[in-house]
Amino acid sequence: MIKSVGFIGWRGMVGSVLLNRMIEENDFLKITPHFFSTSQFGKDGPTINNTVFKNVKDAYNLSLLEEMDIIVTCQGGFYTDTIYPKLRKKNWNGYWIDAASTLRVKNDSVIVLDPINLKAIKQAVDNGIKTFVGSNCTVSLMLMALGGLFQQKLIEWISVSTYQAASGAGANYVIELLKQMGSLYNIVSEDLSNDFCSILEITKKVTKIIQDNSFPLKHFSVPLAGSLIPWIDSDIGTGQSREEWKGQFETNKILDSKNIVKIDGICVRISSIRCHSQSILMKLNKNISLKNIEEIIFNHNQWVNFIPNNIEETISKLTPSAVTGTLNIPVGRLRKSSIGNKYFSAFTVGDQLLWGAAEPLRRMLNLLTNI
Ligand code: HSE
Repeated sequence: MIKSVGFIGWRGMVGSVLLNRMIEENDFLKITPHFFSTSQFGKDGPTINNTVFKNVKDAYNLSLLEEMDIIVTCQGGFYTDTIYPKLRKKNWNGYWIDAASTLRVKNDSVIVLDPINLKAIKQAVDNGIKTFVGSNCTVSLMLMALGGLFQQKLIEWISVSTYQAASGAGANYVIELLKQMGSLYNIVSEDLSNDFCSILEITKKVTKIIQDNSFPLKHFSVPLAGSLIPWIDSDIGTGQSREEWKGQFETNKILDSKNIVKIDGICVRISSIRCHSQSILMKLNKNISLKNIEEIIFNHNQWVNFIPNNIEETISKLTPSAVTGTLNIPVGRLRKSSIGNKYFSAFTVGDQLLWGAAEPLRRMLNLLTNI
């Protein structure tokens, strides 16, 4: 039976990437879509395969939501907090697929990343689990990159530094970053076209504008362009940020680990647009060769790709600008660390909106529409 699928938050960044991927993969031919909005109901929805979906429905109308077999929401945690408990209380027994983090900690939810935990997902569906949540973006991107090592239970711990794109914070933040970049350029544009300009004069002007009241800081509250922000998400009171805490918790929930893989590090916002990067130091529980590790990593899934540890390929293929808009998960800078035999370094990049957010949800929806 063709399933009715309600989409909420489809206008946002993750939602629109999801819709685009679904159009590319002809997923809409397999479902009856219904588009909801928290603020624009009654208006036109998206155009899909030349059809305008008219009369968007009210995303707070429980009776309309109850008619859905599956709900896919990219609307954020506030919407989930408000609607999910009410719908479940009304005994709505449909599938809820969510991009927000709220439900990831629930015992009866499964965090979905099917190249890693397809078996657990299928088992959960068979067992009547109805709530499926996408993972934090750095978690899914690291698991896609090192899936082979996780699968073979070779990792004892990981220390990671992230380099997270503005898109992870939301659309308004991407816009603000670009405005900040524009302000920096505008203040020195004349100097830049002068061959004899003084670089110290330029850095002085740029530093001054960053500290000026007119610099766009409404969302980030501090400069990101020309700088970085070494804190992401809230303070959980232990010295870790919530983003850092998610690394170990969500990874081990996805892996259903008996022995917890320890993961910790510092999450940093940088000025890339939509690709997160991660610099990894890991300790393995066995002394195996680099060649062996390469084979394990690059045979794990079709998206992970090997970047040889040389200058040319690293700087041309292992960067946000090379990966953006693709499903590729390059892994490079792979080497045995000078710290010891069981220690390896690696660097990986992935599109935060694709494997980091929309793609696992799209694939989960497909799994459910095929049963
Ligand atoms: N929390 C992530 C970030 C978004 O701020 O980059 C993806 O889960």
